[in-house]
Amino acid sequence: MPDLPWWRAHRDALLALADQRTPRYVYHLDTVRDRARALQTHVRADRYLYAVKANGHPDVIGALAAEGLRPECVSWDEIAHVRALRPALDPAEILYTPNFAPRAEVARALAEGVRVTIDNASTLDAWADVWRGHDVFVRVDPGVGKGHHAHVRTAGTASKFGVDAADLGALAERARALDVRVVGLHAHVGSGVDETDTWGETARILAAHADAHFPDARVLDVGGGLPVPTGGAAPFDLAAAGRALAAFRTERPEFQVWVEPGRYLVADAGVLLARVTQVKRKGDVRYVGLDTGMNSLVRPALYGAHHDIVNLSRLGAEAEGVAEIVGPICETGDAFAHARPFPHAEEGDVVVIGTAGAYGAVMASSYNRRAPAEEVAM
Ligand code: LLP
Repeated sequence: MPDLPWWRAHRDALLALADQRTPRYVYHLDTVRDRARALQTHVRADRYLYAVKANGHPDVIGALAAEGLRPECVSWDEIAHVRALRPALDPAEILYTPNFAPRAEVARALAEGVRVTIDNASTLDAWADVWRGHDVFVRVDPGVGKGHHAHVRTAGTASKFGVDAADLGALAERARALDVRVVGLHAHVGSGVDETDTWGETARILAAHADAHFPDARVLDVGGGLPVPTGGAAPFDLAAAGRALAAFRTERPEFQVWVEPGRYLVADAGVLLARVTQVKRKGDVRYVGLDTGMNSLVRPALYGAHHDIVNLSRLGAEAEGVAEIVGPICETGDAFAHARPFPHAEEGDVVVIGTAGAYGAVMASSYNRRAPAEEVAM
């Protein structure tokens, strides 16, 4: 039995959902659960967190909670969303990693017992009364960023995230003066990182900083960043990433290691269903227009991200040359794919855009006053 994406096996169900209405995001919860189990099988960590920003659908959050993942949040509203869905969750189980968040938001999270990460050493002076007496994590800039696009590489002075390694000594001193205990160090080098040893390397960098400055830091959170290859590329070797981290854990068993992926857990579990509105030819170029565009899924326009696209109404049909797959938004950049081999398409055909479960609906907008795709889980 070939390892077909779930949406091929569920073609009839997806066509039925599209008959009710399009555009729609559809999430396959068995795939979410499968990825959560694969992560916990291949990567031994002391704690597995889910970067909620990747997909905030209640059923997705619920499925990952049931698999034992804790939430990692980046805004007060993400924290509130998770807590509304999981009222029994101890706030201390939530890791909050804000960046340039307002003081009131940080103060509120600390007051409610959420675990907060300091992302800017200068706030220890500016907000001394907010931090005083709390146990915190520190987000360290790991120095070299990685990832699928410049917009998602989160290290180096050109990135707005984390504390410069050169400032950690002063931060440690200031924290001591405020009775702030740094109990964990955190780093996230970027998103969609192909190298399998990144988590292992990040752990080593954090351990060195803990050795130098933070004797109370027992937790090293190595962030997210696992890639989800598309376009027929080989799947990421999760077991190799697990081995790299295991090697570190053997060297330094005194540290707890946490991981917090987003994309890996949810990307393949989601598709965007859309319907062909019109087909047009200009010169040699064929345009296939859909009933939604960058207002629902901005990743191709923003990062040039590749998403597999299939004409579900004509599944298995041979490509009839290439096409520009575009949306209805008034921007030249409103395209899902350029020069993509694509079969015959007609008005009314249902199209599936794959690997849309991560950073799809959460990044949608109502640009042109076109409502983005609604979400449904199955
Ligand atoms: N932890 C932190 C602190 C993060 O900033 C992120 C993602 C993650 C974990 C999860 O990273 P992941 O495992 O999903 O790569 N919108 C972009 C991705 C932005 C990621 C932002 N931070 C995209 O669509 O590719």
